[in-house]
Amino acid sequence: MMNDAVRLMPTKQNKTPLIISQKSPLKWAGGKRKLVPEILKIVPKKHSNKLIEPFVGGGSVFLNSNFDEYILVDSNPDLISLFFYAKKDVKGLITSTQKLFNNNNNCAENYYALREKFNLLDSSLERTALFLYLNRFGYNGLCRYNLKGGFNVPFGSYKKPYFPKVELEHLSLKLQSAEFLTDDFSVAFEKAKSGDIIYCDPPYSPVSATSSFTAYSGMQFTALDHERLVNCALEAKMKGVTTIISNHALPLTKNLYKNADKLVTLKVARSINCKGSSRKPINELLALYKA
Ligand SMILES: C[S@@+](CC[C@H](N)C(=O)[O-])C[C@H]1O[C@@H](n2cnc3c(N)ncnc32)[C@H](O)[C@@H]1O
Repeated sequence: MMNDAVRLMPTKQNKTPLIISQKSPLKWAGGKRKLVPEILKIVPKKHSNKLIEPFVGGGSVFLNSNFDEYILVDSNPDLISLFFYAKKDVKGLITSTQKLFNNNNNCAENYYALREKFNLLDSSLERTALFLYLNRFGYNGLCRYNLKGGFNVPFGSYKKPYFPKVELEHLSLKLQSAEFLTDDFSVAFEKAKSGDIIYCDPPYSPVSATSSFTAYSGMQFTALDHERLVNCALEAKMKGVTTIISNHALPLTKNLYKNADKLVTLKVARSINCKGSSRKPINELLALYKA
C-alpha cells in the first residue's frame, strides 16, 4: 500500500515540487508534522492497512499518512472529545468555536472568564469549543492542568489567533476511517493485530535529571512509563506487530531502546532549554521493533 506522507504540488515559477503537509487544528507540544516522511520511511514494506497511534496528540502522523484504518488513543479526554465532535458534527463544532474567536475575547479578562467557564463544564460540545479557543488564545498552545484537573495555562496575548476551519474540516474527513478513545497507551497495544503498525510519540524523556516532563493531562509520564512502553513494544513484536517509538536522541534513550531492531537518529533543529546552558539542539531518535 501507499504511504505517501505529503502531497507534492508544483510551484508556479519553477514547477519544482513543493511539499505541503497537513496541519493539525491544535497547537500541540511535540508535534511531529515535519518528521512524518522520515517516520514513514522506516515502516516495513509488508504490513496491514492499519496504523495505531497510542499517543495521538495533535495527530500530525495520522493526518499526513495514508492508511485505510486508524486506531487513535490519548490520555487527554479534551483532545479525544475534539476528535469526537470533529467526526460527528464538524459544522456544529466550527459554528460553536468560531463564535469565540473574536477581538472581544482576545483580552486577559475575557480569556480568564472563559477558562473558568471551561473548568466548570462537563464534557460537551461547549467545553470542546472552549478547549480549541484556549488552545489558540492561551500561552504557546500549552495544554496544562493543575492537580484538580483545572486547565491553568495563562493568556497568550497574540495579535489575531488563527481559526483553524480548514484544518478542522480535514481532520473530520480523516476521522471517518478512525476509531479513537481516551485511555492509557497500553490499551492501544491490546487492540493491535498481526501485521498492524504502531507509531508511539510519548512525552519526551527528560534531557537531564533536573528538567521536568511536559504535563499534558495533569499526570506525569515517568521513567517507569517509558519502560512499560518498551515492554509493550517487545510483546507486540511477538504478536507480529511492528512498533516505532520517537524520543530525544540521548545516551539515556539509546540505552532504554537497546533491544530495538534499529535506531535511527534524525537531525532536527529542535532547541531545548537545558540547565546550565541556554538552548541546545537535540536530535530525534526513532526506535524500530520489527515483527
Ligand atoms: C508528544 S505528544 C504527541 C504529539 C503528536 N505525535 C503530534 O504530532 O501532535 C504526547 C501525547 O501523549 C499523551 N499521553 C501522555 N501520557 C499518556 C498515556 N499514559 N497514555 C496515552 N497518551 C498519553 C499526551 O496527552 C500527548 O497528547
